[in-house]
Amino acid sequence: MEQHILTTRLWENIDEPMPVAELPGKSVETVSAPLTNIFAEAATLLEQGELVAFPTETVYGLGADALNAVALGKIFAAKQRPTDNPLIAHVADMEQVLMLTDRITPLTQRLMETYWPGPLSILMPARADLPQALTAGLPHVAVRMPSHPVALGLIRAFGKPIAAPSANTSGRPSPTSAAHVLEDLAGKIAGVIDGGDCQVGIESTVIEVTDEQILILRPGAVDAEDLGQFGVPVRYDPHLLHQQSDAKPRAPGQKYRHYAPKGSLQVIFTHDAEAFWSYADKQVQAAHQVGKKVALLAADQNVGADLVMPLGTTATEAAKRLYRILRVCDQEEIDLIMARGFAEDPASVAILNRLYKASGGHFVDLR
Ligand code: TXA
Ligand code: MG
Repeated sequence: MEQHILTTRLWENIDEPMPVAELPGKSVETVSAPLTNIFAEAATLLEQGELVAFPTETVYGLGADALNAVALGKIFAAKQRPTDNPLIAHVADMEQVLMLTDRITPLTQRLMETYWPGPLSILMPARADLPQALTAGLPHVAVRMPSHPVALGLIRAFGKPIAAPSANTSGRPSPTSAAHVLEDLAGKIAGVIDGGDCQVGIESTVIEVTDEQILILRPGAVDAEDLGQFGVPVRYDPHLLHQQSDAKPRAPGQKYRHYAPKGSLQVIFTHDAEAFWSYADKQVQAAHQVGKKVALLAADQNVGADLVMPLGTTATEAAKRLYRILRVCDQEEIDLIMARGFAEDPASVAILNRLYKASGGHFVDLR
């Protein structure tokens, strides 16, 4: 398939911002003239039922017309995505929200006003006329207004909601740059808009909202503490982190081994740096004896790892770097990746969830 790289590093071309979001009291910086041609070209491709990848503040999305069942089918084919996994519809204004749902509760309204545009996807009752591929036949549709100016500009140019899962092959780490998108999907999509590196680096928080509670189905940058300010309890779907249960996760995507590098990842929890380094040292020796390559996602302490790429000390830093680092580990054909765990505070739940998924649950507790 002919591949359009709609621009490179267009992030540098942005000048005069203009307001885009129409939620009360909000005005968002977005892009101006030089990009309008790119948006128009991408919107035309979407209108023709093609797939166009684009940057968001979380990860790159693989966009298709959310209301076109044939176009949605192409998303599942390109990503090799299981068909029981529903998509997030991305909107730029309230009018587009109402193309997806006809019921917005007061709590949902407050959440949108507080966190949109931003990394929060909210489940809303799905309109009966939505394509079944968008919701996987579930009663809800997930809706998000991204804050990235390129994402907002594209959705506005298109004029309708854009369905966009992360623009990776299913099971691979999500893409945080246009190059990552092409690594997985070159030849399978009509184009990608290059907006540079994603700021957040992991996918949005997904929540289900009732009058009684806010249920976090997938943790993200908007955390449980943030969501605690609305007067209802905030709970996690028991499938997140190590709290396994027999019940099905409410976000179907959470049941798959996700975000996974090719090598095996171990996440080591310890209060004591010495204990971590002595464990790492032993693992490196053992791996080297059988000819395996080791990556260490912590600042080096001379244990002889083949690749050293610190994840960072804060959850925010780690989120921004994780997927990029996992992709480098794949390129370098690393067999064993070791990272240090994070304290289980609300701000770290999202990174711990991604580490849990990427490691296939391989958490080593030395505490
Ligand atoms: O940050 C993000 O959310 C990125 C960017 C591109 O916006 N998108 C993204 O989409 O991560 P995806 O498809 O990779 O993940 C969507 C998650 C899945 O875990 C899916 O199961 C869940 O949201 N989800 C979507 N619609 C749902 C629904 N109606 N009910 C329950 N879970 C839903
Ligand atoms: Mg995904």
